[in-house]
Amino acid sequence: MSLSIVIMAAGKGTRMKSARPKVLHKIAGRPMLAHVIGTTSTLQAQQQVLITGHGAEMVEADMARTFPEAPLRFVRQEPQLGTGHAVQQAVPVLPDEGVTLILNGDTPLIRASTAQALVDACGGDKLALLTITLADPTGYGRIVRDASGERVLAIVEHKDASPEQRAIREVYTGMMAAPTARLKGWLSRLTNDNAQGEYYLTDVVAMAQAEGLAVVAAQPQDEVEVLGVNSPAQLAELERRHQLAQATTLMEQGVRLADPARFDVRGTLQCGRDVDIDVNFVFEGTVTLGDEGRIGANCVIRNARIDAGAVIHPFTHIDGDKDGVTVGEGSLVGPFARLRPGAQLGREVHIGNFVEVKNSTLADGAKANHLAYLGDATVGERVNYGAGSITANYDGANKHRTVIGQDVHVGSNCVLIAPITLGDGATIGGGSTLSKDAPAGQLTVSRARQVSLPGWQRPQKHPKKQGG
Ligand code: UD1
Ligand code: CA
Repeated sequence: MSLSIVIMAAGKGTRMKSARPKVLHKIAGRPMLAHVIGTTSTLQAQQQVLITGHGAEMVEADMARTFPEAPLRFVRQEPQLGTGHAVQQAVPVLPDEGVTLILNGDTPLIRASTAQALVDACGGDKLALLTITLADPTGYGRIVRDASGERVLAIVEHKDASPEQRAIREVYTGMMAAPTARLKGWLSRLTNDNAQGEYYLTDVVAMAQAEGLAVVAAQPQDEVEVLGVNSPAQLAELERRHQLAQATTLMEQGVRLADPARFDVRGTLQCGRDVDIDVNFVFEGTVTLGDEGRIGANCVIRNARIDAGAVIHPFTHIDGDKDGVTVGEGSLVGPFARLRPGAQLGREVHIGNFVEVKNSTLADGAKANHLAYLGDATVGERVNYGAGSITANYDGANKHRTVIGQDVHVGSNCVLIAPITLGDGATIGGGSTLSKDAPAGQLTVSRARQVSLPGWQRPQKHPKKQGG
């Protein structure tokens, strides 16, 4: 049975009061629409048809970039005359058989299992609606059932509902699955004869009934799956609910979070056993934490692998971007450290406060404990890299490498002008600026020799002139 997915994303989102199209506003660091497409991409649909309107070019470009492999088709809806009108625009690209699943671009947390259950409920010959019972159904379309409560007769929009109908708490979530051929027929017969003067998709329910087609309802596993976003406040609320759900899942796996309310994962976080995470923590992209890892308060970590027993002290920023960052077993990083793309730390490496590492490999036991910069460097085992020292890796046009052999001791406040190699066991005197290689095993110093001038006198103040 072929499956087509139609995602409505043409609406303006007036209440967002934003120049950005509503569906591009983010939940967990990802546009809401990308959540929907990402989730439904697992359903093996023949095609995913995106109905765009407001900000169409921006929405289409963003999604085409994010999902180069997905069978996406873009259909414009201009002007926007209602949800029924939106789906009408997809009719020319829908096949004549199979099932069509209709979703909303502003309801980002729908799960694949729920969407699949809706498709299964349709089964190719029924109209299946995703419904939920809410404490406060205000604003939603109400599910009107027959006296037995078994058959769904119609969806009545809030604005068109009678007082008795408004008392119904079972509502339509905006998602349905229908036999495509039937759907096409219903869509061609929609009218806009209602309180809002719109073409309501929900009118197809009464049409299905009239044709004797069974109308069935399925429910989501969790209310959060069907919560839509219309305003910044709702966006923030959904974000917190989503984050809390993610935090709960991790805690169920044994991860210890100091406060699940001060914890944000914007991507995927994988944790080993006995991981401790303090407050105000932001993970982005793909992050892996090994067994017994400890993350201090106020850290931001993106695209990184942190191995077993490593400790990330407070206020550390790790950004692996495209190249990634690796922190080896038992390493200590921070507080106030910055690891940038391509920082690869071996085991037991120490990176202290105000140390920046970019595109550099530090072998086991290497230390840079204070105020230092390592860029485009290869650092050997057990190197001690002094406070205030930097690799001058950029000559204004090109980047060059610094190679530091094992057991090298770089004193404080050194400038290593790349390309440069410091041989194994070399010692570099503090305050040196090196532009040539330093041989292994020797002390290399490059700075003005210290002199003292005996008998030198400090200048005296001239006595003040009188009168004048
Ligand atoms: C719709 C349902 C209502 C349901 C509610 C759930 C209809 C008539 N009503 O109401 O029963 O309880 O969703 O949230 O379907 N859109 C377009 N083009 C348009 C109009 C809307 O693409 O011309 C898109 C919007 O961007 C949005 C979705 O369709 O993603 C829903 O539109 P919205 O106006 O929020 O529907 P409601 O009036 O809330
Ligand atoms: Ca509306």
